[in-house]
Amino acid sequence: MRRPILAANWKMNMNSAEVSAFTNQFIPLVANADEVDIVIAPPFTLLDRLANEIAGTAIQSAGQNVNPEESGAFTGEIAAGMLADMGCAYAIVGHSERRALFGESSEFVARKAAALLRHEISPIVCVGETLEQRDAGRALEVVETQLRESLAGVSGDQAEQVVVAYEPVWAIGTGRTATPEIAQEVHGHIRSQLSAQFGDAGNRIRIQYGGSVKPETVYDLMSQPDIDGALVGGASLDPIAFSRIVLFQSQRNQ
Ligand code: PGA
Repeated sequence: MRRPILAANWKMNMNSAEVSAFTNQFIPLVANADEVDIVIAPPFTLLDRLANEIAGTAIQSAGQNVNPEESGAFTGEIAAGMLADMGCAYAIVGHSERRALFGESSEFVARKAAALLRHEISPIVCVGETLEQRDAGRALEVVETQLRESLAGVSGDQAEQVVVAYEPVWAIGTGRTATPEIAQEVHGHIRSQLSAQFGDAGNRIRIQYGGSVKPETVYDLMSQPDIDGALVGGASLDPIAFSRIVLFQSQRNQ
């Protein structure tokens, strides 16, 4: 069985007072959620503050991005070792906003994933097609290529530390969630690809769905055989909504 992983991607939102307000509400709500992994990816400036707030809980923190270099003259960038120093257990790489707005290629994403693994941080590797690509019948092919290229630097014994996030670009921030069936079709395809690349370890890699996940949609998504978690943007800024997503089992029939 794969352990569910529910992750908040706060993107470029929140300040230090808001982190404390969030955690004060959120932590008691998820105190008994011991069968899932809970991850929060705040902006870099709030990692230290978040680490203090979640100390002593099972909640883990994540970077939203990383630079693949170890150190040096890369103004404005953050290295994997710096995320490790902040206590991050995960970092998101290859988010579609970074691919589209900052021109990041899958090759670059692969270097980031490799850098994270060198520091024992689990990369959350995002892949997903645009609406245009889906309408052209190319969704599976696009996701397959992104995944193959983004995982090129991952060795067999590192595979289980990786998390994959399928985030159809047309569902991100649009309120338009993929149906559980559409998501499962892609997740199933990703699963076969991971198994082909990593053998048994591929079956243990967790695959999150992301794109307008809400408390009302999370249960049906999580009921699909290859959906092992969610990467949540908008709804994760609200401690009550995100707690309901973490407690997805109790959202049945809501
Ligand atoms: P959303 O964002 O939940 O606001 O659609 C998801 C993401 O971009 O990770």
